[in-house]
Amino acid sequence: MPDGTPVEELTLRALGPEDTKYVCKIITYGGAVRSLTVPDRNGNPVDVVLGFDTLEDYRAQDKYIGALVGRYANRVGGAEFTLNGAQYPLFANDGPNSLHGGRTGFDKRVWTVEELGGSAATLSLVSPDMDEGYPGSLEVRVTYTLSEGGLAISYRAKSDRDTVCNLTNHSYFNLSGHDSGSVEGQYIKLNASRYTPAGPGSIPTGEIAPVEGTPMDLRTAQPIGTRIGEPFGQLVMAGGYDHNWVIDKHEGTIWTAAAAWSPDTGIAMDAATTLPGVQFYAGNFLSGCPRGKGGAVYGDRHGFCLETQFFPDSPNQPGFPSCVLKAGEEYHSVTVYSFGVADCAEKL
Ligand code: GAL
Repeated sequence: MPDGTPVEELTLRALGPEDTKYVCKIITYGGAVRSLTVPDRNGNPVDVVLGFDTLEDYRAQDKYIGALVGRYANRVGGAEFTLNGAQYPLFANDGPNSLHGGRTGFDKRVWTVEELGGSAATLSLVSPDMDEGYPGSLEVRVTYTLSEGGLAISYRAKSDRDTVCNLTNHSYFNLSGHDSGSVEGQYIKLNASRYTPAGPGSIPTGEIAPVEGTPMDLRTAQPIGTRIGEPFGQLVMAGGYDHNWVIDKHEGTIWTAAAAWSPDTGIAMDAATTLPGVQFYAGNFLSGCPRGKGGAVYGDRHGFCLETQFFPDSPNQPGFPSCVLKAGEEYHSVTVYSFGVADCAEKL
């Protein structure tokens, strides 16, 4: 970093055969997942996340590629919120709204390596009181665990004052390989019968609407590109899929929010989480970043994100599940991205 702080890269290998194809690289800048290699239908390794070759490129891009996002992932409308009667102005970095933690969100910090084993690593960060306008000194610990099933990310945080907290990972997946071009032919399935429609600036209106009868209905697997261009107001406004879906819950504490599949490689992915929402972002505005790994050109829709989360603008939306973290209590969420191979989308 310009101030001399070193940035490290950690390599995780799944426990199992010595030649496991499950390998993940994490960098301490932004806690970003820089590569995630899994086997395709022929057993060949495929790197399914976008990333960069140099730290300079990570610092130059503004798409949150691979990063850990916080203190409040997604948008806070009007770049301010009220908590316990006090108003907290934030930095407006997305028109009049605050996006992904503000000017210097957690994606731009160098995280500390707390623990490192062969298949797991824990990173930590202290976000001081009033950092980016948010109250309370927040201690965050994030553990990445790689297995032959996939990558689990566990988030824990504690604050000494009441605050709001919403942590996610902003990996862009491309199940045909990070450098393979558009994901519009890859299948997506969202286990969500409702979503949160948004108004100007992608700020939710507060409504929780059924997906039924709209192109937001992705409960049956379909190629990302099939309905993304329909003249449906929400899609036109956001330039494609870039919304929060309300995950249908079932028994247990972790539920599968989404599944995706590449007909090219046969790689199938599930995203399961303890959180109530998922932002399915189709990478509509991805172009314009530096060359990716190995010189890859990342254009619009060359990767998609499944950002598990509290709903956008929850600090200002009394009808949404609360993202308030009380002083001394623990924030804990888990998201697991699981991988396998499938021979057709119907298996998702
Ligand atoms: C997503 C967000 C998009 C865009 C992107 C970063 O999480 O929903 O609208 O801001 O991050 O380029």
